[in-house]
Amino acid sequence: MTYVVTDNCIACKYTDCVEVCPVDCFYEGENMLVIHPDECIDCGVCEPECPADAIRPDTEPEMEPWVTFNRKYSEKWPVIITKKDPLPGADERDGETDKMTKYFSEAPGEGG
Ligand code: SF4
Ligand code: F3S
Repeated sequence: MTYVVTDNCIACKYTDCVEVCPVDCFYEGENMLVIHPDECIDCGVCEPECPADAIRPDTEPEMEPWVTFNRKYSEKWPVIITKKDPLPGADERDGETDKMTKYFSEAPGEGG
């Protein structure tokens, strides 16, 4: 089992999640984070920290594509362990539909 980051992180990237992870398994893209499924120890402490409710356990229905997605990008992007400012307009974009099509970027974030 693992937790994964899902699409409502896109264009928000609040980063509250990274400070509580005991194994530093969040990775930063330009406009979202992912969790490395093989490093996550399933502790669950990050889930309630996300203001956008973007972190889900893979035991929920239809999470398998998100596990694949999180693994793919965690192997491309740098680790992030320090909270930073959310993206501009994060509060307005929280809950918007179709964020993957509108905003997702494969580019790495800065990490740190
Ligand atoms: Fe880190 Fe625990 Fe969240 Fe997994 S469930 S990403 S180990 S805080
Ligand atoms: Fe994203 Fe939520 Fe973390 S918006 S950066 S998963 S706190």
